[in-house]
Amino acid sequence: MDLKALSDQFWRDGYLLIEDFFSMQLMDQMTNAINEHYGVDPEFWHTNEFLDRAKTEVIPWFPQNEGCLLFNEVDQHPYFKALSKAVLGEDSQTLYCMVMFSKQGTVGQAWHQDCDPDDPKRFNINRLIYTSDIRQDIGGEVVVVPRSHLRGEIPIGDPEGELPGQLVLRPKKGSLIFLHGHTWHRVLPIHGGNRISTNYRAVPKGTPLDITDICVYRNMRYHFGSNKVVEERQ
Ligand SMILES: [Fe+2]
Repeated sequence: MDLKALSDQFWRDGYLLIEDFFSMQLMDQMTNAINEHYGVDPEFWHTNEFLDRAKTEVIPWFPQNEGCLLFNEVDQHPYFKALSKAVLGEDSQTLYCMVMFSKQGTVGQAWHQDCDPDDPKRFNINRLIYTSDIRQDIGGEVVVVPRSHLRGEIPIGDPEGELPGQLVLRPKKGSLIFLHGHTWHRVLPIHGGNRISTNYRAVPKGTPLDITDICVYRNMRYHFGSNKVVEERQ
């Protein structure tokens, strides 16, 4: 693995997709733990206003907060560590590991940036792990606009409309995506089954740990701490 080339690619495009990064065995173990946690009919955590306005229906789980040691194996994976260091530099910080579960029939996620892009030096990255295939017949594809991490705030407009230059990603089981928090991205509706991905969020040294509290959508800025719209965009 050429870490320098991969890091350069990430910084050029605002995202990076690597297939066959993790072993099938680890993916199966994580899948078992995730299925055991969620059971068959998890309830939504967010307020109705958020679900309606942000077009997001994701049920999060923070397994490491509950002492689920299996999820530490990703943090300790040598190439995962090395690639994170190549991209973020020394002393980067992991914010948390969050499993994201979306039920069949949910809308995915509207276009957004994970944090305020006003200061290019302040950002998070998502390190997304796919424990099962993202497939066209299920939906839930990740859509990005390559290089948009360099273009500032996502334009005001249709929260779910297509954006010029968008690229649909279908990561397979064992794939890793690195995604810059300023990159314009969304998740397509989930129509053929449940969808799971796991996000190991990280930030460079010195970044405020609440950096992702305010998320920028095409129609608003939303504060996750207080579950409130803090700015209308129109
Ligand atoms: Fe996001």
